[in-house]
Amino acid sequence: MAKHVIATVGQIPPGSRKLAHVNGRAIVIFNLAGEFFALNDRCPHRGGSLSQGKQTGLVESDGPGNYRYSRPGEIIRCPWHGWEFDVRTGQSWCDPARVRARRYTVGVEAGCKLVAGPYVAETVPVTVEGEYVVVEA
Ligand code: FES
Repeated sequence: MAKHVIATVGQIPPGSRKLAHVNGRAIVIFNLAGEFFALNDRCPHRGGSLSQGKQTGLVESDGPGNYRYSRPGEIIRCPWHGWEFDVRTGQSWCDPARVRARRYTVGVEAGCKLVAGPYVAETVPVTVEGEYVVVEA
């Protein structure tokens, strides 16, 4: 797997996401309060685009009328049929044991480190001073 420079850190601010195309794969990168996560954009149900989905939180219940809302923004809901996936892990909340969105390793690298390679920066100009979001795919 090669490392691909997707964007500068500033191009994906906290609470946002970016769709990138890497080696023929559509990958959506999320910034959750400064932490980056990457999922295959293709929903494992029928192929909906997760990058077009709504980010929401986790709703749990012990019984009727009793619920807790937590982890705002950490769940992505597929726009086609509403299946929900954990942005951090890709785990499905419809069928957690068997279904998951494919996850990719993503991190932040300093521009001075990228100069040493081996990285692929297809559309992002890299400077030594910058910080960059890098996906392995
Ligand atoms: S295609 Fe995503 S929920 Fe059906």
